Amino acid sequence: MTARALLSDLPAYTALKEHAVKLQYASLEGLFNADSNRADTFTASAAGLHLDYSKHLLSSSALASLLDLAEQAGVQHGIEALFTGAHVNNTEDRPALHTLLRASSGGGQEDRFLEVQRARERMQVMAQKLYRGEHTGYSGKTITDVINIGIGGSDLGPRLVTQALKPFQGTVQCHYVSNVDPADLLDTLANLDAASTAFIICSKSFRTEETLANGLAARNWMLNAGATTAQLDKHFLAVTTNLQAARDFGIPEENCLPMWDWVGGRYSVWSAVGLSCAIAVGWDRFSEFLAGAEAMDQHFRNSAAHCNLPLLMSLLEIWYCIFFHASNHVVLPYDHSLQRFPDFLQQLTMESNGKRVSADGRELDYATAPVLWGSAGTMGQHSFHQLLHQGTLLCPVDFILPLNTHTKAAQQHRILVANCLAQSRTLMVGRSLEDATNALMKRGLDEDKAATLAPHLVMPGNRPSSVITMASLDPGTLGALLALYEHRTYCSGLLWRINSFDQWGVELGKEISTEILGQLAGTNDGSTMDAATDRLIKLWKDAQR
Ligand code: F6P
Repeated sequence: MTARALLSDLPAYTALKEHAVKLQYASLEGLFNADSNRADTFTASAAGLHLDYSKHLLSSSALASLLDLAEQAGVQHGIEALFTGAHVNNTEDRPALHTLLRASSGGGQEDRFLEVQRARERMQVMAQKLYRGEHTGYSGKTITDVINIGIGGSDLGPRLVTQALKPFQGTVQCHYVSNVDPADLLDTLANLDAASTAFIICSKSFRTEETLANGLAARNWMLNAGATTAQLDKHFLAVTTNLQAARDFGIPEENCLPMWDWVGGRYSVWSAVGLSCAIAVGWDRFSEFLAGAEAMDQHFRNSAAHCNLPLLMSLLEIWYCIFFHASNHVVLPYDHSLQRFPDFLQQLTMESNGKRVSADGRELDYATAPVLWGSAGTMGQHSFHQLLHQGTLLCPVDFILPLNTHTKAAQQHRILVANCLAQSRTLMVGRSLEDATNALMKRGLDEDKAATLAPHLVMPGNRPSSVITMASLDPGTLGALLALYEHRTYCSGLLWRINSFDQWGVELGKEISTEILGQLAGTNDGSTMDAATDRLIKLWKDAQR
């Protein structure tokens, strides 16, 4: 591939460094005072989502330089390349066409789109049969519980979507097992009846050790419960690119739904990987979920840079990561059903952009993906928000706030909303030494005691946050939200010059684990590792006696 200028070689990079020097000590309240339209100007909307990015250490001229950076980096060209099937995953020589999975037309990818449509039709039939209670198990009982066995992208997306769409849930309960720790499967099976339980073995490669081990344990559970080998077909479905391996496992072809190597695992919930979601909420809702993502795709592809939500969020990521040395990014959904969203985003952003060389193999001289973490509000307020407000790390925050609740508990929801808005404002305004001292004196402390305690109450403020709102969390807005972060991740990869679609960094650990497993099982006794690992292996062996 032709070498592209690294981000640090682009003209706007130097301008941004200068902006950052000016803005790092800026007062966010001062920026609002200087521009009475700021609360309106620094906002953008698309596909039912509204982004308020006014509480950022950003001036109009710094934003203009960020947009220049995007232009100089050729982001628009990169966006087209994604949609038109160019081999954006250059190290694996393939496209990344997750957008085709939610598209309503082929847009130049007609052959692949035909395959997607065929798969969708088969998936719809399977999902509806289960959703409607028409799928029966070995004893004739209706299937009431479905367990998705998968890990990483074959788990986190469907797990998140099923939980987020709980208000739309039908009668079949979907469960998720991913950890190879036997406790995960055993805990899930504890209250289930094998006769009314079905499994989806979800694995793009059908080679993932954890998934295969759990799949075999599930198979044995079913056989021990009384199913015959021939009856297992009623209880096992698979989603994979590797039909042969699924067949070898014992799942017949008619029970397998396809995936394609041109879809990355962490971008795959829109494919048959989302089968469990479609079973949980029904096909109509799943289609709305796809449509919400497609609306975001169209916005991403067709909107000008200054109002392009994924691009703006990506530029903010680059801004803080490179120019403010922020190595953390925090995502706080103020909606309990999105509590798994940070987990999903961890794989999406950190597996995609946790890289130190450019797509053409050059070592980068700037920071890439920050550590992403977070949890559903308000729980974090009573835990890690202390660090957000008074710690020494700069942690830009995304608050995610559906404006209406499905719970009908209006008063409790008001409390939730008030807390979300209060946290975003508190991060911005902080508390000065003078205000802290006055507050303590109002509480009855004398001047000396107030002066001693006040520094502990000071909050520097000027800590940036975005607020993403939507009328309510429904299949459409959820689809748009996930697609928004997918595209933000891709844009950041483009700007960082990273290939966001490979994950070579996970391979070596798997190989070494296989070697160690041989030692633990006694089939590879001859091999030695480093002294520390050898000692720990011995410790484990001694503990087995
Ligand atoms: O090991 C990382 C990874 O390859 C992820 O990228 C992927 O989502 C996960 O493992 C599961 O892979 P598979 O779907 O092939 O089982």
